[in-house]
Amino acid sequence: RNILYLSLLIILIWACNQPQKTTTSNKNEMNKDIHSYSNTNEVFTKHLYLELNVDFDTKKISGVVRHEIENIKTVKEIIFDSKFLKIKKVTLGKENEKPTDFSLSKHHEIYGQALKVSIAPTTKWVNIYYETTHESEALDWVAPHQTEGKQHPFLYTQGQAILTRSWIPLQDTPKKRITYNAKIKVPNELIALMSAKNPVQKNDKGVYYFKMPQPIPPYLIALAVGDLNYIPLGENCGVYCEPSLNQQCEYEFAELPKMIEAASRLYGHYKWGQYDILILPYSFPFGGMENPRLTFAHPTLITGDRSATNVIAHELAHSWSGNLVTNETWNDFWLNEGFTVYFENRIMEEVYGKEIADILGVIATQELMVALEDIKNSEHPEDSKLKLNLEGRSPGEGMTDIAYHKGFLFLKTLENTVGRKKMDQFLNQYFNHFAFKTINTEQFIQYLDKYLLQSNHIEFNTHQWIYKEGLPDNYYRIKSARLDEMNEQAKLISLGTPLSKTKLANKKREDRITSEWLSFIRHLSPEISIKSIEELDKQFYFSDNANAMIKSEWFQLTIKTGYTKNMEQIKRHLLKVGRNWLIEGIYRSLTTSKLPEHRTFAYQVYLEAKQYYHPVTKASIEEVLSSK
Ligand code: BES
Ligand code: ZN
Repeated sequence: RNILYLSLLIILIWACNQPQKTTTSNKNEMNKDIHSYSNTNEVFTKHLYLELNVDFDTKKISGVVRHEIENIKTVKEIIFDSKFLKIKKVTLGKENEKPTDFSLSKHHEIYGQALKVSIAPTTKWVNIYYETTHESEALDWVAPHQTEGKQHPFLYTQGQAILTRSWIPLQDTPKKRITYNAKIKVPNELIALMSAKNPVQKNDKGVYYFKMPQPIPPYLIALAVGDLNYIPLGENCGVYCEPSLNQQCEYEFAELPKMIEAASRLYGHYKWGQYDILILPYSFPFGGMENPRLTFAHPTLITGDRSATNVIAHELAHSWSGNLVTNETWNDFWLNEGFTVYFENRIMEEVYGKEIADILGVIATQELMVALEDIKNSEHPEDSKLKLNLEGRSPGEGMTDIAYHKGFLFLKTLENTVGRKKMDQFLNQYFNHFAFKTINTEQFIQYLDKYLLQSNHIEFNTHQWIYKEGLPDNYYRIKSARLDEMNEQAKLISLGTPLSKTKLANKKREDRITSEWLSFIRHLSPEISIKSIEELDKQFYFSDNANAMIKSEWFQLTIKTGYTKNMEQIKRHLLKVGRNWLIEGIYRSLTTSKLPEHRTFAYQVYLEAKQYYHPVTKASIEEVLSSK
């Protein structure tokens, strides 16, 4: 008996020491999306059908979302994400709906609530009747006077990263892709648009039908309602904007067809049919958002000289990196953005040439260096790794220049190591292989090893790039003679050389492109004299009528120097522009300024401006204002 026990014990110990075989299901377990309550490993939504009414008087969206589900583990409960929603009732079934039990967990500041619904093993349809609330963070209800035409209100949604759950109860994780249909009722004088097949004209019933037949992650479901018209720009592309912007948009985005051609030439056929741009009100928190078939764009992209078209190249690039091949969780965000910045740069090179692409590359590198320094000195130095660990934190905290620009430089360096031809072959193959799938960093590394590195006998420090802090030494140094010259002039001026004695003497602002000015301003010293600032402002009118990107950079600098004569212009900028990355830095310069009047100014202006900002921007500015 003892021998039996002993041998059993030995077998047991042996078994415990064996490495766990990873089956597909516990691999998924390991790669859990920590930002979602959903149980997609057991039961998940395949298709959504939305029937919603948009009411501008009460500022609520209400109706029903019908989930067509697949219960692979035949469980008795499906879990959805819900945040700031009023759930009225839940029913099961298609033709004859039967009420079912549901419960909502305690509200969590970041994730919201788990909505648990009882289902049967045979359940195919779950219908959730609900309405949004004034807290719903995805929604921006824009008052008529904040629109271009000033006659009609405007509504738009912002889903990325985990805000879709605040306007639709669903399994809000990029791990599972879904298709959707929608029927949206809006006021008669407005049109509804979605990240789907869109109408080109208003109808007199105010009811619009949508279909998105390609599976997408839920953060890409988007809706906009406003007084909009459509301008075709090419065979499969165009722009929606308020009618008073028609001419400006037609000029600004005229190169769109060329960009689509270039992108398709590089990494394969455009798989979404149509590519349109929608111009949003000034409160839109981003430069652009890659909602499929309908990129949402900030009005500051209308510069009059096409100097912000790289943002369009970027959002278009997401049609491959991000929308076609999607990050599995927000810890893999760099797979979306790093690839997209790289691809954006390649599109820019195709359309405008290498000199321009390199200028953008240097600008990106400059921004990365600043971010690396900030992150190194922050509470979370580990955030400079490409693969993140955002456990317990908001995905927003991972949306830094690391994902964008360290990701970009990783791919640029890889390109430089393997050569462009192999790089492009590999990327084509990658987009094809993972099309309409979600992917994590580890799957990418495996694929890279197998199809690019090992097959070509190439050594590359992938692991260091992805899992280590900081920037590896072998990063590819992009060079631009044009920027070098601008930086040189900036240094001379900072040392007190009069403008008239530099190469910028007699130049106009129009003689240099936006990126050249950005680099120039970044290389001016905070110690620069007031006299030089005034000289520069007089000659190049940065404070008064430069575009919003240049203004943002200029205002940050002038605040740091202790200059106070352009406070009116700064205030006007902050009251108008809700694009987070164009105002966050200004608020930061103000709150960290040595001048007490700068600090009070920041709080005062914010109190007035916040009514014009989207919840995303509000959260980010409040963070800046509350940190010292
Ligand atoms: N997908 C992002 C915007 C975003 C990021 C939304 C994080 C929610 C969370 C978009 O593609 C983007 O990167 N926009 C940039 C464009 C720029 C890098 C050219 C922007 O808004 O400035
Ligand atoms: Zn992006």
